[in-house]
Amino acid sequence: MGRIIGIVQVKGGVGRSTLATNLAAALARHGRTALIDADVPQGTSASWGKLREETGRLGQLTVAGVADYRALVSKARELVAVNDFVVIDGPPRLAEVTRAIMVMSRLCLIPLGASAAEIWATADLVKTIKEASARRLDINARIVWNRFREHTRSARELGDAAEKQLGLTALHSKLGYRVAYSEALARGLSVAEWPDRHAQEEFAALVAEIKQQLGV
Ligand SMILES: Nc1ncnc2c1ncn2[C@@H]1O[C@H](COP(=O)(O)OP(=O)(O)O)[C@@H](O)[C@H]1O
Ligand SMILES: [Mg+2]
Repeated sequence: MGRIIGIVQVKGGVGRSTLATNLAAALARHGRTALIDADVPQGTSASWGKLREETGRLGQLTVAGVADYRALVSKARELVAVNDFVVIDGPPRLAEVTRAIMVMSRLCLIPLGASAAEIWATADLVKTIKEASARRLDINARIVWNRFREHTRSARELGDAAEKQLGLTALHSKLGYRVAYSEALARGLSVAEWPDRHAQEEFAALVAEIKQQLGV
């Protein structure tokens, strides 16, 4: 039985697909991995997977798209039985699909940029997580800071304040604002396969932390 890692956020463009595709590619180096794109028709992860398949880079990775809640639940059940890891890329809404991802996942990752607008938009998502926890559905959720400007004081202060305000911890590893992420995504690659040492190192550190969270 594999482990499900859900990528959820209610706001669009925060980096769900960036995180999902890079994480899936990294985990596929360690074991059989499936990436489920639950943000159809947007389909960023599915398109990335198609490109990856065409360029012969899939390896131990399977990529599938699902159109609705029912399809997601049955696909996740099917794939978790035959893979070590299942990564689910969610839609930018607090829909049934998002709730299902949260409940099914061993670890929920919430990509977030250190900007007021993104932090405000995340409050509802966090409220839903807390409500689920109150109903004894234990959801292990962590913020993943994305497009983070480590060296600016405002980003650090905003980040610390957001973690307190939202009542949710972030993983220590943060992703910076780097063209490597958009360039790699557009080519069906992961940043591990793109010549930017900083991007490679920060993503590898994030993967190590995620594996630690998963106990693998
Ligand atoms: N850390 C980053 N640095 C630079 N560009 C990024 C970063 N994260 C995401 N992007 C770019 O921002 C856009 C939106 O990201 P994406 O992962 O598709 O967001 P979402 O899936 O949440 O809508 C994409 O073009 C992606 O390449
Ligand atoms: Mg997306």
